[in-house]
Amino acid sequence: MTRLSVNINKVATLRNARGGSIPDVQRFAADCERYGAQGITVHPRPDERHIKYSDLLPLKNIVQTELNIEGYPSEHFINIVLDIKPHQVTLVPDAPDAITSNAGWNTVEHQHFLHDIIIRFKNAGIRTSIFIDPITERIVHAQQTGTDCVELYTEAYAVNYSINREKAIENYVQAAATAHAHGLFINAGHDLNLENLKFFNERIPHLDEVSIGHALICDALYYGIENTIQMYLQQLK
Ligand code: PXP
Repeated sequence: MTRLSVNINKVATLRNARGGSIPDVQRFAADCERYGAQGITVHPRPDERHIKYSDLLPLKNIVQTELNIEGYPSEHFINIVLDIKPHQVTLVPDAPDAITSNAGWNTVEHQHFLHDIIIRFKNAGIRTSIFIDPITERIVHAQQTGTDCVELYTEAYAVNYSINREKAIENYVQAAATAHAHGLFINAGHDLNLENLKFFNERIPHLDEVSIGHALICDALYYGIENTIQMYLQQLK
């Protein structure tokens, strides 16, 4: 079964809006796991507007499933991740002021850059993933970077799902087949929600993990986090 990793950045954003420690991000992470999430994802950004770097170690100590830390691999980010040693790191090519991740790696152009970074994480025993658009050539080059996984950037799928879901999924099916043939694990994320997740999971064989934040936390406002996690897990069955 595809694992659900809950991205809790939005919970930190809510906390930061008031200062202080409500809602408690660590407790929220532990509760997500208690309600069935198989992973917790955080994406610290240089301005720390959501998850703060100081949240990472307490989260590492509390998360029992898989802690996935995402981010642009600046030297600062690399050193913190090497220090914390999460189960997985996902490298994302986002600019420091990006509102949210808005592109995958060009692995043809950045193959050597990624390779040199990935080797450092692998030597530390941290599983690596790189955020990537569903483009066959880029998936093939992803393997050359030495990464364990690719995370397919699903915004285009989500945008086109309501127009023509068969067409929307085409590139992802191809990309996933290529990734699997090249021995890469397959993660996916961005704009996945209760409407489009089931079809994505059904059509992408070997989908290992999805990381979902925005829609899941918004759904939790209506259904509560326990119900919401159950509803997402249901889509992945
Ligand atoms: N994957 C990556 C690399 C991301 O940056 C994000 C958003 O922080 C997600 C997945 C999750 O996207 P969403 O919040 O739209 O579910």
